[in-house]
Amino acid sequence: MTKALVLNGPNLGRLGRRQPEIYGSTTHAELAELCVGWGRELGLDVEVRQTNHEGEMLDWLNAAADDATPVVLNAAAWTHYSYAIYDACAQLVAPLVEVHISNPHQRPEEFRHTSVVTPYAIEVIAGHGIDGYRLALERLARR
Ligand code: DQA
Repeated sequence: MTKALVLNGPNLGRLGRRQPEIYGSTTHAELAELCVGWGRELGLDVEVRQTNHEGEMLDWLNAAADDATPVVLNAAAWTHYSYAIYDACAQLVAPLVEVHISNPHQRPEEFRHTSVVTPYAIEVIAGHGIDGYRLALERLARR
């Protein structure tokens, strides 16, 4: 089975408790379980990780570059300002799909309207809630 990583950035570990009116009631543990199940149906061996530490995310992205592992990335707030994440995404050799639970472009804060991930993503999936991760894995499986 093809390996695929689902990498979630800061504050996503609090899914289910964090602003449920925006991010829904599914916890990160439940999301991880769903992703593994969706992956299995699609022939992908999915591993889900979450970190609040940018350096840890960079290490994961660098390893994904070395191993040519496809990535579904929700870089959360780093999406909007981290040039280190931008540089790490630039090095990926397997497909990258950008996911957001909400649709940052439709939110009022101006800073959410920029993404450093988009230039390197084969697709951006935003505003589909947790289901966006399923759509992202389907996109990877099609490649
Ligand atoms: C998010 C959107 C970002 O703007 C925000 O900083 C997040 C989550 C989303 O999944 O909708 O933390 O990436």
